[in-house]
Amino acid sequence: MSLEAFERYPLLFGPSPVHPLDRLSDHLGGARIWAKREDCNSGLAFGGNKTRKLEYLLPDALARGADTLVSIGGVQSNHTRQVAAAAAKAGMKAVLVQESWVDWPDPVNDKVGNILLSRIMGADVRLVRAGFGIGFKDSWHQALEDVRAAGGTPYAIPAGASDHPLGGLGFADWAFEVQRQERELGVFFDTIVVCSVTGSTHAGMIAGFAAQDRPRRVLGIDASARIDETRAQVEKIARGTADLIGLGRDLRDEEITVLEGWAGDLYGVPVRSTVDAIRLTGSLEGMIIDPVYEGKSMAGLIDLVRGGDIPKDSNVLYAHLGGQPALNAYSGVFG
Ligand SMILES: Cc1ncc(COP(=O)(O)O)c(C=O)c1O
Repeated sequence: MSLEAFERYPLLFGPSPVHPLDRLSDHLGGARIWAKREDCNSGLAFGGNKTRKLEYLLPDALARGADTLVSIGGVQSNHTRQVAAAAAKAGMKAVLVQESWVDWPDPVNDKVGNILLSRIMGADVRLVRAGFGIGFKDSWHQALEDVRAAGGTPYAIPAGASDHPLGGLGFADWAFEVQRQERELGVFFDTIVVCSVTGSTHAGMIAGFAAQDRPRRVLGIDASARIDETRAQVEKIARGTADLIGLGRDLRDEEITVLEGWAGDLYGVPVRSTVDAIRLTGSLEGMIIDPVYEGKSMAGLIDLVRGGDIPKDSNVLYAHLGGQPALNAYSGVFG
């Protein structure tokens, strides 16, 4: 089967914008850095990487007669906010299990940002006390059961829409979108830098680029602080997605690169390099990134360019995956 064979429910504006970050590139004095902006990919609740993935899950949900999307994430999950938006757009309901993945002292953590937006969109938001983990949980099974008990038909979407057979398709398609944009712009991105946590964003890219003629590096930056789990998940989803889109060969180990060093000790807790990266990107480019994900992947990019791991003659594409609404729950960091 090929990627085109999978149905897509339109949630995006179209191809997400690609543009150079000249002042950041000049400041770092190395490779030329560009950004592809999933944070402005859609008109639905600020968009983001999950909106792209959900384009491939929604047709499956509708084909199965589902009327309620059920998903899970942390209190400030960008994913569950995008599930709420997709449900609203498709005329469905959403039940969102929001766990305490991050021990963060901001007093309005469970009131502003992503969770506020999900409430505005009419989702059934359930706060649950449980720690970080990207697996399947009791609270989630309970939510599915509750929907059934009320006569509804739930459709289960795991954390980050990742551990799902169709989870990698959105970013496999992204890889082909990049290829088309490269032709228009007359540039080739030899290195892609992307944040990785639940894994299907990075994994989808790996599968999509593997199907293209010209090799390039697709560097995942771990933001979960659980590198072994992230690597295992990326590998599993990349291989599954490659099969699904008919790659016709096994992925080689060197095609799967997840780097550690910028997550700090805990998921969701910014460290010095995260905050520095957020301030630098904001002050040089007016581009806003968040303290949970993109601040960490940008910190990785900055060090890799400065340290020469990404050489001076490189063209780097930074995947901006969204996530800014969570900034509201981290005001203390910048106060
Ligand atoms: C803004 C943002 N960046 C990066 C990621 C990581 O993507 P993935 O979970 O597909 O690895 C997420 C979600 O987890 C996110 O919300």
